[in-house]
Amino acid sequence: MNEDELNSIKDKIKREIEAAKTINQLNQISRGYLGKKGVISRLLKELKTLTKEERVRRGKKINELKCFLQEKLEEKEGLLKKEETKQEGAKFDITVPGRKLKVGHLHPLTQVKRKVEEIFQSMGFSIAQGPEIEDEWHNFDALNIPPEHPARDVWDTLYLREQKLLLRTHTSPVQIRYMEKHQPPLRIIAPGRVFRHEATDARHEFQLSQIEGLMVEREISVANLKAVLSEFFRKFFTKDINFRLDPDFFPFTEPSFNVSVTCVICQGKGCSLCKKTGYLEIAGAGMVHPNVFKNCGLNPKEWQGWAFGFGLDRLAMMKYRIDDVRLFRSADLRFLSQF
Ligand code: DAH
Repeated sequence: MNEDELNSIKDKIKREIEAAKTINQLNQISRGYLGKKGVISRLLKELKTLTKEERVRRGKKINELKCFLQEKLEEKEGLLKKEETKQEGAKFDITVPGRKLKVGHLHPLTQVKRKVEEIFQSMGFSIAQGPEIEDEWHNFDALNIPPEHPARDVWDTLYLREQKLLLRTHTSPVQIRYMEKHQPPLRIIAPGRVFRHEATDARHEFQLSQIEGLMVEREISVANLKAVLSEFFRKFFTKDINFRLDPDFFPFTEPSFNVSVTCVICQGKGCSLCKKTGYLEIAGAGMVHPNVFKNCGLNPKEWQGWAFGFGLDRLAMMKYRIDDVRLFRSADLRFLSQF
């Protein structure tokens, strides 16, 4: 065996190691050279046949070859291991942000309702509730709307077939139910669903949500009502907003008003939603009618009160600048997911 052979083995080692793609292949190469029956041991065995001098020289060369081989193997192993962890990493990269689970959220009307409740609670109002299926007494008579009174036509009522029950047309009956059970002074709001036999359009729904308000004191006036309303609007719209009271008629209040705020869609310029008036009516209000107090067993000479009824849908439309009330109950996720 001559020098050339050693060199060609060295070259072969280099090529083979370079070509190795896995640790397994590398181990095979290692065994082929360093194993018991491997190339190196064969070369060492051949030393016996040489003279002493040659053996020393040759032995050194073989040793060098062995070191070279081990070095190359180690180097390549390091590289392959690095690559392997890289690939593993590609399979499971802990730095990739997690996939977001789709969770639902509160309906915009619920969000608005909660906001309104929060604001009034901060002004000392409690939250009252009443049934959605009402009797005529609470929905009409006690509110100073006797049978045959033309005002009943204002609320196109859905009657239930039996027992003269109906779906409440407004949240005002909660005023009656509350005053029947509680002694003034009192401050309540009563959010709830109401139902009307109505054709629907951009401003009307047959089912809507209202928020009733009632405050009863020994001495209280429209000025208090205005103060509370203006505080409410300021907090609800998070800015000072123009509102006005216009004379109106409700059987259960005297005097009666309707409350309008600057139309947020057109900023008061006039648009289809506000019927070109620049204002949008969002509540009815007034001073509690003496007959209402009487019907609840309270003395109207002793007590004064104001009341209001907000359309929750209207409030939400104003807050989110929505121009069609029907969207709220459309169950359209493209709409709902925006809130
Ligand atoms: N209940 C009335 C309606 O549904 C709204 C309303 C007007 C409520 C005046 C009130 C009020 O409490 O004082 O149209």
